[in-house]
Amino acid sequence: ERHERLARLVHEAGSVVALTGAGISVPSGIPDFRTPQTGIWANVDPMEVAHVDVWRRDPQRFWAFYGHRFAVLGDVRPNDAHRTLAELERRGRLDAVLTQNIDLLHEKAGSRDVVELHGSIAGTHCPACGARASLEETLRRIEAAPDGVPRCAECGGVLKPDVVLFGDMLPVAALERAEQLAAGADVLLCIGSSLVVYPVAELPRTTLRHRGRVAIVTTSETPYDELAAARLDGDVVAELQGLLAALDAL
Ligand code: OAD
Ligand code: ZN
Repeated sequence: ERHERLARLVHEAGSVVALTGAGISVPSGIPDFRTPQTGIWANVDPMEVAHVDVWRRDPQRFWAFYGHRFAVLGDVRPNDAHRTLAELERRGRLDAVLTQNIDLLHEKAGSRDVVELHGSIAGTHCPACGARASLEETLRRIEAAPDGVPRCAECGGVLKPDVVLFGDMLPVAALERAEQLAAGADVLLCIGSSLVVYPVAELPRTTLRHRGRVAIVTTSETPYDELAAARLDGDVVAELQGLLAALDAL
């Protein structure tokens, strides 16, 4: 059975940590970034919409992209792949979820220990004065602004989403925690990520260096395929449910 090998790895591991990317949210109706044709970056150059320099130089263009994205992501629901990870955590088989996703779907599915490495859509802030706004408040401000740019209620500065843009640093505490969990993992279960964006793409290397194993569940190739102890390339929902069933059968 295809899932049995992975189930055995998970079963025998002291610590299992998941590392997720956009692919886990595709069954919720959100496109990923790098799948040809359908991926967001197959259709828009990230350096033209998602770089911190665009937020600075051309907030109207920046918010035309992120305003739409925030509105879409705020409305979607978790799928059975998210729910399977929450179930594995409840059963004590999964220590934490490290995610590159900003969609909050792991939390909505019931995962408790989620490390958000690229931030989330929960809100925005004003880099000029430090004021904060919720997702709802930000969407209201986008609607009300003639140029579609949400501005700070306190000082009028352009709001910035609490997400990591290209050219931004990752949140230090989240990255340190992720590095610790990756170093201590017997199995790092990488799900729905092409594993090409650094520094997150360094985490499987960290696990391997500490003699842990890397398992990969994703439909495209990744730079770690040759080093993986288990490799599944079907749909993320089917594969994670298969893993759960195989664990039950052990
Ligand atoms: P990618 O789009 O690079 O990779 C998504 C992975 O999920 C690919 O391997 C797809 O083949 C796979 N996939 C898609 N649908 C799937 C399905 N139904 N079942 C299984 N696998 C599926 O997305 P990430 O690796 O998350 O960062 O991208 C990392 C970062 O790049 C993102 O956080 C974002 C982006 O630029 C920033 O914006 C800073
Ligand atoms: Zn302000």
